Amino acid sequence: MRTVVISGASSGIGRATAARFAAAGDRVVNLDVRPPDPADVRGGISWREVDVADWVEVGRAVDEIHAEHGAMDVVVANAGISVRRGVLDIDERTARRVMEVNLLGVLRLWQAAARHMVARRHGVLLATASVNGMRGYPLYADYNATKAGVASLCRTFALELSPHVRVACVSPGAVLTPMQQAEYTEEMLAAVNHQIPAGRHAAPEEIAAAFVYLASDEARFCTGQELVIDGGETAGATTAMHGTAYA
Ligand SMILES: NC(=O)c1ccc[n+]([C@@H]2O[C@H](COP(=O)([O-])OP(=O)(O)OC[C@H]3O[C@@H](n4cnc5c(N)ncnc54)[C@H](O)[C@@H]3O)[C@@H](O)[C@H]2O)c1
Repeated sequence: MRTVVISGASSGIGRATAARFAAAGDRVVNLDVRPPDPADVRGGISWREVDVADWVEVGRAVDEIHAEHGAMDVVVANAGISVRRGVLDIDERTARRVMEVNLLGVLRLWQAAARHMVARRHGVLLATASVNGMRGYPLYADYNATKAGVASLCRTFALELSPHVRVACVSPGAVLTPMQQAEYTEEMLAAVNHQIPAGRHAAPEEIAAAFVYLASDEARFCTGQELVIDGGETAGATTAMHGTAYA
Protein backbone atom coordinates (compact mmCIF):
# COMPACT_ATOMS: atom_id res chain seq x y z
CA MET A 1 0.00 0.00 0.00
CA ARG A 2 1.45 3.37 -1.06
CA THR A 3 1.20 6.48 1.09
CA VAL A 4 -0.11 9.33 -1.08
CA VAL A 5 -0.28 12.91 0.21
CA ILE A 6 -2.47 15.36 -1.72
CA SER A 7 -2.93 19.02 -0.87
CA GLY A 8 -6.27 20.68 -1.56
CA ALA A 9 -8.17 17.38 -1.72
CA SER A 10 -11.34 18.68 -0.04
CA SER A 11 -12.61 19.97 -3.40
CA GLY A 12 -12.33 19.81 -7.19
CA ILE A 13 -9.31 18.24 -8.87
CA GLY A 14 -7.64 17.25 -5.59
CA ARG A 15 -10.77 15.55 -4.34
CA ALA A 16 -11.21 13.55 -7.56
CA THR A 17 -7.52 12.61 -7.46
CA ALA A 18 -7.74 11.45 -3.85
CA ALA A 19 -10.75 9.31 -4.73
CA ARG A 20 -8.86 7.63 -7.59
CA PHE A 21 -5.82 6.77 -5.46
CA ALA A 22 -8.00 5.57 -2.57
CA ALA A 23 -10.04 3.37 -4.93
CA ALA A 24 -6.78 1.78 -6.09
CA GLY A 25 -5.99 0.81 -2.48
CA ASP A 26 -3.54 3.56 -1.59
CA ARG A 27 -3.44 5.24 1.83
CA VAL A 28 -4.39 8.85 1.05
CA VAL A 29 -3.86 11.89 3.27
CA ASN A 30 -5.53 15.18 2.34
CA LEU A 31 -3.83 18.39 3.48
CA ASP A 32 -6.40 21.18 3.24
CA VAL A 33 -7.50 24.28 5.11
CA ARG A 34 -11.09 23.22 4.60
CA PRO A 35 -12.65 20.07 6.04
CA PRO A 36 -13.55 17.44 3.48
CA ASP A 37 -16.97 15.95 2.81
CA PRO A 38 -17.49 13.38 5.60
CA ALA A 39 -18.05 10.75 2.89
CA ASP A 40 -14.40 11.12 1.85
CA VAL A 41 -13.22 10.35 5.39
CA ARG A 42 -15.58 7.37 5.58
CA GLY A 43 -14.05 6.26 2.27
CA GLY A 44 -10.64 6.08 3.95
CA ILE A 45 -9.13 9.44 2.93
CA SER A 46 -7.78 11.03 6.08
CA TRP A 47 -7.65 14.82 6.50
CA ARG A 48 -5.14 17.05 8.23
CA GLU A 49 -5.88 20.74 8.57
CA VAL A 50 -2.84 22.31 6.91
CA ASP A 51 -2.29 25.66 5.25
CA VAL A 52 0.28 24.94 2.54
CA ALA A 53 1.51 28.53 2.83
CA ASP A 54 2.69 27.81 6.37
CA TRP A 55 6.27 26.54 5.99
CA VAL A 56 6.47 25.12 9.54
CA GLU A 57 3.04 23.48 9.46
CA VAL A 58 3.77 21.72 6.16
CA GLY A 59 7.08 20.36 7.41
CA ARG A 60 5.50 19.10 10.62
CA ALA A 61 2.61 17.41 8.79
CA VAL A 62 4.89 15.66 6.29
CA ASP A 63 7.27 14.45 9.02
CA GLU A 64 4.40 13.14 11.14
CA ILE A 65 2.75 11.35 8.20
CA HIS A 66 6.09 9.76 7.33
CA ALA A 67 6.70 8.71 10.93
CA GLU A 68 3.19 7.28 11.24
CA HIS A 69 3.21 5.26 8.02
CA GLY A 70 6.92 4.71 7.49
CA ALA A 71 6.64 5.85 3.88
CA MET A 72 5.97 8.77 1.57
CA ASP A 73 5.51 7.35 -1.90
CA VAL A 74 3.59 10.01 -3.84
CA VAL A 75 2.91 13.69 -3.20
CA VAL A 76 0.48 15.76 -5.26
CA ALA A 77 0.91 19.48 -4.50
CA ASN A 78 -2.44 20.62 -5.81
CA ALA A 79 -3.83 23.30 -3.47
CA GLY A 80 -4.26 26.59 -5.27
CA ILE A 81 -6.22 29.83 -5.26
CA SER A 82 -7.00 32.48 -7.84
CA VAL A 83 -8.48 35.95 -7.62
CA ARG A 84 -9.83 37.49 -10.81
CA ARG A 85 -8.79 41.11 -11.40
CA GLY A 86 -6.79 43.27 -13.76
CA VAL A 87 -3.15 44.18 -13.32
CA LEU A 88 -4.04 47.72 -12.25
CA ASP A 89 -6.20 46.39 -9.42
CA ILE A 90 -4.01 43.69 -7.87
CA ASP A 91 -3.43 44.46 -4.19
CA GLU A 92 -0.30 43.47 -2.30
CA ARG A 93 -1.95 41.24 0.29
CA THR A 94 -3.81 39.11 -2.26
CA ALA A 95 -0.87 38.88 -4.65
CA ARG A 96 1.42 37.71 -1.84
CA ARG A 97 -1.14 35.14 -0.73
CA VAL A 98 -1.48 33.75 -4.28
CA MET A 99 2.32 33.41 -4.46
CA GLU A 100 2.58 31.84 -1.00
CA VAL A 101 -0.11 29.24 -1.64
CA ASN A 102 0.39 28.39 -5.32
CA LEU A 103 4.17 28.65 -5.69
CA LEU A 104 5.92 28.55 -2.32
CA GLY A 105 3.29 26.05 -1.13
CA VAL A 106 4.45 23.63 -3.84
CA LEU A 107 8.13 24.30 -3.17
CA ARG A 108 7.76 23.64 0.55
CA LEU A 109 5.57 20.54 0.27
CA TRP A 110 7.89 19.01 -2.32
CA GLN A 111 10.98 19.91 -0.28
CA ALA A 112 9.61 18.44 2.94
CA ALA A 113 8.57 15.21 1.18
CA ALA A 114 11.75 15.01 -0.90
CA ARG A 115 13.89 14.85 2.24
CA HIS A 116 12.24 11.52 3.09
CA MET A 117 12.14 10.33 -0.53
CA VAL A 118 15.83 11.02 -1.14
CA ALA A 119 16.74 9.17 2.05
CA ARG A 120 14.75 6.16 0.82
CA ARG A 121 15.81 6.63 -2.84
CA HIS A 122 12.20 6.36 -3.90
CA GLY A 123 9.21 8.61 -4.54
CA VAL A 124 7.20 10.68 -6.99
CA LEU A 125 6.53 14.41 -6.63
CA LEU A 126 3.60 15.78 -8.63
CA ALA A 127 1.81 19.14 -8.77
CA THR A 128 -1.05 20.90 -10.47
CA ALA A 129 0.30 23.67 -12.70
CA SER A 130 -1.93 25.13 -15.45
CA VAL A 131 -2.00 26.15 -19.10
CA ASN A 132 -2.22 29.65 -17.58
CA GLY A 133 1.50 29.34 -16.90
CA MET A 134 2.25 28.70 -20.58
CA ARG A 135 0.95 31.98 -22.04
CA GLY A 136 -0.83 35.17 -21.04
CA TYR A 137 -4.39 35.08 -19.72
CA PRO A 138 -6.01 38.44 -18.86
CA LEU A 139 -7.16 39.07 -15.29
CA TYR A 140 -4.96 36.40 -13.68
CA ALA A 141 -1.45 37.87 -13.90
CA ASP A 142 -0.26 36.77 -10.46
CA TYR A 143 -1.91 33.36 -10.71
CA ASN A 144 -0.39 32.80 -14.18
CA ALA A 145 3.08 33.64 -12.86
CA THR A 146 2.73 31.11 -10.04
CA LYS A 147 1.79 28.37 -12.50
CA ALA A 148 4.78 29.13 -14.76
CA GLY A 149 6.79 28.93 -11.55
CA VAL A 150 5.44 25.49 -10.70
CA ALA A 151 6.53 24.15 -14.12
CA SER A 152 9.95 25.68 -13.50
CA LEU A 153 10.21 24.12 -10.03
CA CYS A 154 9.33 20.79 -11.61
CA ARG A 155 12.28 20.92 -14.01
CA THR A 156 14.85 21.85 -11.36
CA PHE A 157 13.56 19.44 -8.71
CA ALA A 158 13.71 16.68 -11.35
CA LEU A 159 17.31 17.45 -12.23
CA GLU A 160 18.44 17.59 -8.61
CA LEU A 161 16.55 14.51 -7.42
CA SER A 162 17.06 12.13 -10.36
CA PRO A 163 17.34 9.23 -10.72
CA HIS A 164 15.64 8.07 -7.55
CA VAL A 165 12.81 10.58 -7.23
CA ARG A 166 10.65 11.49 -10.24
CA VAL A 167 8.99 14.90 -10.56
CA ALA A 168 6.21 16.00 -12.93
CA CYS A 169 3.30 18.38 -13.11
CA VAL A 170 -0.08 18.30 -14.81
CA SER A 171 -1.23 21.45 -16.56
CA PRO A 172 -4.98 21.37 -16.96
CA GLY A 173 -6.92 23.69 -19.18
CA ALA A 174 -10.41 24.63 -18.05
CA VAL A 175 -11.82 22.19 -15.50
CA LEU A 176 -15.31 22.49 -14.07
CA THR A 177 -14.67 22.74 -10.33
CA PRO A 178 -15.89 24.99 -7.50
CA MET A 179 -12.87 27.28 -8.23
CA GLN A 180 -14.10 27.84 -11.78
CA GLN A 181 -17.76 28.08 -10.82
CA ALA A 182 -16.99 30.70 -8.15
CA GLU A 183 -15.67 33.18 -10.68
CA TYR A 184 -17.56 32.42 -13.91
CA THR A 185 -21.20 32.91 -14.85
CA GLU A 186 -22.97 30.38 -17.10
CA GLU A 187 -22.41 32.74 -20.06
CA MET A 188 -18.69 32.99 -19.28
CA LEU A 189 -18.40 29.20 -19.02
CA ALA A 190 -20.13 28.85 -22.41
CA ALA A 191 -17.71 31.39 -23.92
CA VAL A 192 -14.75 29.38 -22.58
CA ASN A 193 -16.23 26.17 -24.00
CA HIS A 194 -16.36 27.87 -27.39
CA GLN A 195 -12.58 28.48 -27.29
CA ILE A 196 -11.73 24.86 -26.47
CA PRO A 197 -11.45 22.47 -29.44
CA ALA A 198 -13.03 19.72 -27.32
CA GLY A 199 -15.99 22.08 -26.86
CA ARG A 200 -16.24 21.71 -23.10
CA HIS A 201 -14.54 21.94 -19.74
CA ALA A 202 -12.75 18.88 -18.38
CA ALA A 203 -14.23 16.92 -15.51
CA PRO A 204 -11.93 16.76 -12.45
CA GLU A 205 -11.72 12.97 -12.94
CA GLU A 206 -10.01 13.53 -16.30
CA ILE A 207 -7.18 15.36 -14.51
CA ALA A 208 -7.09 12.79 -11.71
CA ALA A 209 -6.41 10.10 -14.33
CA ALA A 210 -3.25 11.94 -15.40
CA PHE A 211 -1.96 11.97 -11.82
CA VAL A 212 -2.64 8.26 -11.46
CA TYR A 213 -0.60 7.61 -14.59
CA LEU A 214 2.30 9.87 -13.59
CA ALA A 215 2.48 8.24 -10.15
CA SER A 216 2.55 4.76 -11.65
CA ASP A 217 5.49 2.65 -12.73
CA GLU A 218 4.17 3.00 -16.31
CA ALA A 219 5.52 6.57 -16.19
CA ARG A 220 8.96 5.56 -14.86
CA PHE A 221 10.80 7.34 -17.71
CA CYS A 222 8.84 10.57 -17.23
CA THR A 223 10.47 13.25 -15.10
CA GLY A 224 10.92 17.01 -15.28
CA GLN A 225 7.94 17.40 -17.58
CA GLU A 226 4.60 19.15 -17.73
CA LEU A 227 1.70 17.03 -18.99
CA VAL A 228 -0.90 19.28 -20.63
CA ILE A 229 -4.52 18.10 -20.45
CA ASP A 230 -6.52 20.89 -22.07
CA GLY A 231 -8.92 19.60 -24.75
CA GLY A 232 -6.68 21.16 -27.40
CA GLU A 233 -6.87 24.68 -25.96
CA THR A 234 -3.18 25.49 -26.40
CA ALA A 235 -2.70 23.57 -29.65
CA GLY A 236 -3.40 26.65 -31.75
CA ALA A 237 -2.85 30.39 -31.41
CA THR A 238 -5.60 32.70 -30.22
CA THR A 239 -5.77 36.43 -29.67
CA ALA A 240 -9.46 36.29 -28.80
CA MET A 241 -8.92 37.34 -25.20
CA HIS A 242 -6.72 40.40 -25.66
CA GLY A 243 -7.90 43.79 -24.52
CA THR A 244 -10.69 42.48 -22.33
CA ALA A 245 -9.52 44.27 -19.20
CA TYR A 246 -9.02 47.99 -19.87
CA ALA A 247 -9.64 48.49 -23.60
N1 LIG B 1 -10.36 24.53 -12.23
C1 LIG B 1 -9.56 24.79 -13.23
O1 LIG B 1 -10.01 25.13 -14.35
C2 LIG B 1 -8.07 24.66 -13.09
C3 LIG B 1 -7.29 24.71 -14.26
C4 LIG B 1 -5.91 24.60 -14.14
C5 LIG B 1 -5.32 24.42 -12.90
N2 LIG B 1 -6.11 24.37 -11.78
C6 LIG B 1 -5.43 24.19 -10.50
O2 LIG B 1 -5.92 23.00 -9.91
C7 LIG B 1 -5.76 23.07 -8.50
C8 LIG B 1 -7.08 22.70 -7.83
O3 LIG B 1 -8.05 23.62 -8.27
P1 LIG B 1 -9.61 23.31 -8.24
O4 LIG B 1 -10.16 23.89 -9.50
O5 LIG B 1 -9.84 21.89 -7.93
O6 LIG B 1 -10.03 24.29 -7.04
P2 LIG B 1 -10.98 24.10 -5.78
O7 LIG B 1 -11.17 25.49 -5.25
O8 LIG B 1 -12.18 23.28 -6.13
O9 LIG B 1 -10.08 23.26 -4.77
C9 LIG B 1 -8.91 23.80 -4.20
C10 LIG B 1 -8.70 23.17 -2.84
O10 LIG B 1 -7.49 23.72 -2.29
C11 LIG B 1 -7.73 24.07 -0.94
N3 LIG B 1 -6.82 25.14 -0.52
C12 LIG B 1 -6.83 26.44 -0.92
N4 LIG B 1 -5.86 27.11 -0.29
C13 LIG B 1 -5.22 26.23 0.51
C14 LIG B 1 -4.14 26.34 1.41
N5 LIG B 1 -3.52 27.50 1.63
N6 LIG B 1 -3.72 25.23 2.06
C15 LIG B 1 -4.35 24.04 1.88
N7 LIG B 1 -5.40 23.90 1.06
C16 LIG B 1 -5.83 24.97 0.38
C17 LIG B 1 -9.19 24.53 -0.91
O11 LIG B 1 -9.72 24.52 0.42
C18 LIG B 1 -9.83 23.52 -1.84
O12 LIG B 1 -10.24 22.36 -1.15
C19 LIG B 1 -5.29 24.49 -8.20
O13 LIG B 1 -3.89 24.51 -8.04
C20 LIG B 1 -5.67 25.25 -9.45
O14 LIG B 1 -4.88 26.38 -9.65
C21 LIG B 1 -7.47 24.48 -11.84
